[in-house]
Amino acid sequence: MKHVAIAALAAVLMGGVAHADTIKVGVVGPFSGPFALQGKNFKAGIDAYMALNGNTVGDDTIEVIYRDIPTADPAQSKALSQELVVKEGVQYLAGFYFTPDAMAATPLLEQANVPMVVMNAATSAIVTKSPYVVRTSFTTWQTSTPIAKVAFDGGTRKVISVVSDYGPGVDAEAAFKAGFEAAGGEIVEAIRMPLQTNDFSPIMQRIKDSGAEGVFAFLPSGPTTLGFVKAFNENGLKAGGVKFFAPGDLTQESDLPALGEAALGLTTTFHYAVSHDSAENKKFVEAAGKAIGNPAELSFPAVGAYDGMHVIYKMIEATGGAQDAAKAVEAVKGLSWESPRGPVTIDAESRHITQNIYLREVAKADDGTYYNKEVQTFEKQGDPGLAAAK
Ligand code: PHB
Repeated sequence: MKHVAIAALAAVLMGGVAHADTIKVGVVGPFSGPFALQGKNFKAGIDAYMALNGNTVGDDTIEVIYRDIPTADPAQSKALSQELVVKEGVQYLAGFYFTPDAMAATPLLEQANVPMVVMNAATSAIVTKSPYVVRTSFTTWQTSTPIAKVAFDGGTRKVISVVSDYGPGVDAEAAFKAGFEAAGGEIVEAIRMPLQTNDFSPIMQRIKDSGAEGVFAFLPSGPTTLGFVKAFNENGLKAGGVKFFAPGDLTQESDLPALGEAALGLTTTFHYAVSHDSAENKKFVEAAGKAIGNPAELSFPAVGAYDGMHVIYKMIEATGGAQDAAKAVEAVKGLSWESPRGPVTIDAESRHITQNIYLREVAKADDGTYYNKEVQTFEKQGDPGLAAAK
């Protein structure tokens, strides 16, 4: 016994021991309730990354610990994040589907010496709340700016804007308005709906009454977007020729089987389509499809999570597994790689992801399924919202 102890001590003093640790990653997201499918996509993306890249980095084993937050609930997000850091000893925080949940956890990061990798929440200002935030998803400024150009170039001049009344909705409204007005278009009315809105008929009536030629809309993906697009169809706006412009949250792939013809032909701009034609995406869709069980449930949060794990693995590699948030974040500033969505870079200044934004149209495949068909690429888009967020 004594010999073993002395040998161990000698090894430690010589500093040459390979010390294998378990590094914990805490993931906060909606894993139950109405947005459970979005959380399921987080997990599918993470599982796919670990299936393809292993569960070790150097000598360290990576363990992912999940915490469920069914809807936007900042107080609960803060409590869960704190518990992950203090009780579970996580070295990284990740996930965060809703903006208020991401925002609420940012004050913990510096004191806890923990980086946060935002895998979805899309309000520009989140990265400004702590130097330890890195984002692998998108912002609604980033995804809503190109559709304003598409709308104007397609001949639409009068648009009514309809968004959920919280961070990413307010950003989306501002982005579309800035782009559309700069081009020469007019926003005839701007409606902000409470996040909990689930009866969209009165909104559809207001769109009709506004006399606008088109609607710009943003709601967070989930039952919300499904209900909105259904209502747009069922209230006769689609058939009546009201043009529809939105970021891709409104036509996420997992909603398309339920929407069917109601979604056919809708144009959106977004950073990721499950149909994206590349070798990297093929590999991703196969692994994430296997992880989620039913590949028809795959949607964009899976790619934000997959790339988020890539960033976390790079951070662990750079720190040799040591808990050093500043060094970890520094190591991924300027990091570029080929994502399933296309080429991406973590912008060194903002710590937000620079990426292509694609114009897509909901199309029907030969086998009768619906998909987002990419028809145009806006290359290497940064976040135009950061100037506004400061
Ligand atoms: C957000 O709360 O930031 C959010 C949630 C769902 C989306 C986009 C943004 O589809």
